Formats: sequence, structure tokens, C-alpha cells
Amino acid sequence: MQIDPQTLDSTAVYKLLISSVVPRPIAWVSSLDTAGVGNLAPFSYFMAITAEPPTIAFACSPREGAKKDTLRNVEAAGEFVVNVVDDERAEQMNLSSGDYAPDVDEFVLTGLTAAPSVKVKPPRVAEAPISMECTVGRILPVGKAHLVLGEIVQWHVRDDIYDAATGRLDMHRLRPVGRLTGNLYSHIHQIFEMKRPSASYRG
Ligand SMILES: Cc1cc2nc3c(=O)[nH]c(=O)nc-3n(C[C@H](O)[C@H](O)[C@H](O)COP(=O)(O)O)c2cc1C
Repeated sequence: MQIDPQTLDSTAVYKLLISSVVPRPIAWVSSLDTAGVGNLAPFSYFMAITAEPPTIAFACSPREGAKKDTLRNVEAAGEFVVNVVDDERAEQMNLSSGDYAPDVDEFVLTGLTAAPSVKVKPPRVAEAPISMECTVGRILPVGKAHLVLGEIVQWHVRDDIYDAATGRLDMHRLRPVGRLTGNLYSHIHQIFEMKRPSASYRG
């Protein structure tokens, strides 16, 4: 089957796109509005870009033509935190994705703990296995969406998943959740190893 996206409406293209790029990691983004109200929402248009400097990006689509709270907050404050969603927090992540008014603090709504960050004002999710404090590098308009690039200025990693000997995080203990399509998600429980052909690979 051949599919030309220009022959489809935007919903059909969206369904095809989010079914084709899977599984996607989830950036559970915490931010603060100008009045100091906390905000928390998941974004699976999310990727790591480079380690020098450590940079991640997520994309925020409009809601009924308007910017979502997260985008408005990161534009105004220039700071946010990306928290990692594990199996245990999947339900609370989903709850935090509702269309709530800007004055609703999703930390309170979900019963999660807003722990102070070290280098940025928005709090992190204390229950998350990994949190990355970010400063906004650039915000690029892409079609109707905005791509937010953030430089990681501070990491928080749960002690039991950090392997000091290798500098890696333990994938078996982390148990991250991946987004598939629609309401489908994946657990990462079957992990396999494959050596790279190039001896120079530093990973
Ligand atoms: C798993 C998951 C992934 C999502 N990914 C995105 C995304 O990449 N971009 C986006 O604009 N909305 C995404 N959403 C929807 C937002 O989380 C939702 O619109 C939320 O209400 C935005 O909150 P805010 O207005 O507080 O920023 C996703 C929702 C879920 C459940």
C-alpha cells in the first residue's frame, strides 16, 4: 500500500505518524506559570538530540488553536523539568494529560509530590526515577506545533538505578513506559544485547 499524506486529512496523518514512530519515550514535563501554579503534562513527541551540551526536545501541538499551558509556561519562564514515567506512575501520567484549566495544579490533582529543583524554579516529580532540569535553548515553530529544545542543567537519578561502575542506568530496574498509538503503551521488560561492529563505539 502506498500512502501520500497530502491525500489524507490531518487526523488520518496523525494516526499514521504516531503508529509509525513507536515506541516513543514520554517527557513528563513540569513547569510553573507566572503566578507560581505548577503544571504537569506528558509529551511523546520527545527525543534526545545531543550530549554536548545535553539537549532534549519535545513538541507541543495547539489545543483548539491555542497554546497549551506547558508551552506558555516554558516560553515565559525559560525553564522546565522532564520527568521519566515508569510502570508505577503510568496511571498518574495519564491523569495529568487531561484538559484542565491553567489554574489546576496537576501535582495536586494526581497526588504526586512536587520536590524542589536545584537549578530551575519548576519542581520535579519526586516519585519519578529520573528528572532532568532544563533551560530553554530555542523554541522553533514547526507547522502548527512548537518544538522546545532544552539543555539539561541538572539530573536527578534514583540511587538504585545508577550504576557508578559503568555510568549507566539499570534498564531492568528503570522500567520505563513507551507510548504506542491511541491508548496503547508498552512496558520495556524484554531487553536484549547486541555488540556494535565498530570497536570505536563509546556507548
Ligand atoms: C502519553 C501522552 C503523550 C502526549 N504527547 C503529546 C505531545 O507530544 N504533544 C502534545 O501537544 N500533546 C501531547 N499529549 C497531550 C497533552 O499531554 C495534553 O494536551 C495536556 O493537557 C497538555 O497539558 P497542558 O495544557 O497543561 O500543557 C500527550 C498525552 C499523552 C497521554
